[in-house]
Amino acid sequence: MTNGNKRNVVIKGTGHAVPTRVLSNFDLEKMVDTSDEWIRTRTGILRRRIADEHTATSDLATEAGRLALEDGGVSPEQLDLIIVATITPDMFFPATSCLVQKNLGAWGAACYDLSAGCSGLIYGLDMAMHSITSGAYNRALIIGADCLSKITNFQDRTTCVLFGDGAGACLVEGADRAGVLASYLGADGRGWEKLLIRAGGSRHPASPATLEAGWHYIEMCGNDVFKFAVRIMVEASLKVLADAGLEPEDIDLFIPHQANIRIIESAAHRLKLKDTQVYVNVDEYGNTSAASIGIALDEAARSGRIKGGDRVLLVGFGAGLTWGAMIIEWVDKDND
Ligand code: COA
Repeated sequence: MTNGNKRNVVIKGTGHAVPTRVLSNFDLEKMVDTSDEWIRTRTGILRRRIADEHTATSDLATEAGRLALEDGGVSPEQLDLIIVATITPDMFFPATSCLVQKNLGAWGAACYDLSAGCSGLIYGLDMAMHSITSGAYNRALIIGADCLSKITNFQDRTTCVLFGDGAGACLVEGADRAGVLASYLGADGRGWEKLLIRAGGSRHPASPATLEAGWHYIEMCGNDVFKFAVRIMVEASLKVLADAGLEPEDIDLFIPHQANIRIIESAAHRLKLKDTQVYVNVDEYGNTSAASIGIALDEAARSGRIKGGDRVLLVGFGAGLTWGAMIIEWVDKDND
């Protein structure tokens, strides 16, 4: 949808948090039959951050959210809504967003979690935008946060080299001018088995047998996800560009989900984007799932890579299968 003529939303603040512990490709060489060379050339990843045994998703989410509030100059009590996008909640229930609310002291906020895999932050931003433009809410904190290391089999070289932990947050507020120029979400449940955790839910409750089978770990059809990712990132980006009446060259910064440098480069090439338009940090963090786009957005904003008036294109894909894209006109907070 386009969002040019009615009440809109702007991103008032961003934040991110990652664990301090670094797991390098060389560390992984000692754990599974892999090599730094294979991981670098096939994925572009050099290292990733891994949460320790005392750290859960809500801890990283809280820190990212706190920084976003600080960045936007908003106190926790002023929040109306907290959405946490995650596939690694602290526990089945209560929602991780309720734990974040407790940690922040955001007593006036309604809270829910959202499961859209690595598309989660864009799903959350889109939901918050509609909640705010409807007039029901005015300020929302959207946090994409995951600790994929907690659901990764570190004996499976086809998955364990890809993932890392982190959280990225956006503080979103109602405004009378265009902030979100276009937004688009999609899903195709026929691809549910391409990326999943098979057990632990109501289909296959956790049991000694599911544990024995390793059904509590991520399973993935890597090649199928790769092809889907390139196709859908291009399609979703072209859709929001068309909705906003923009061309790829009008985009100042393209922030794709950071899963694999080859996926990012293929999509950027098909969109005819220059290297200077594309944000990449997959080398540092690996695939942090719902956190990835939020971490990149916060890094880009804080380093001055995004300035007031810039048009930023976010695009993600993930388990579900799901996808989402959004074009944001950036607000310079200092001149707001
Ligand atoms: N180290 C060394 N060799 C590995 C390896 C590793 N970590 N992982 C797989 N291999 C091997 C495979 O066993 C295979 O060996 P074979 O040819 O003897 O069977 C070979 O490398 C090639 O495997 P393949 O799966 O074809 O590699 P690829 O180039 O497709 O890269 C992925 C694999 C997973 C990196 C890639 O498919 C990918 O990034 N997919 C998308 C994943 C993703 O984004 N998931 C999250 C979505 S949100």
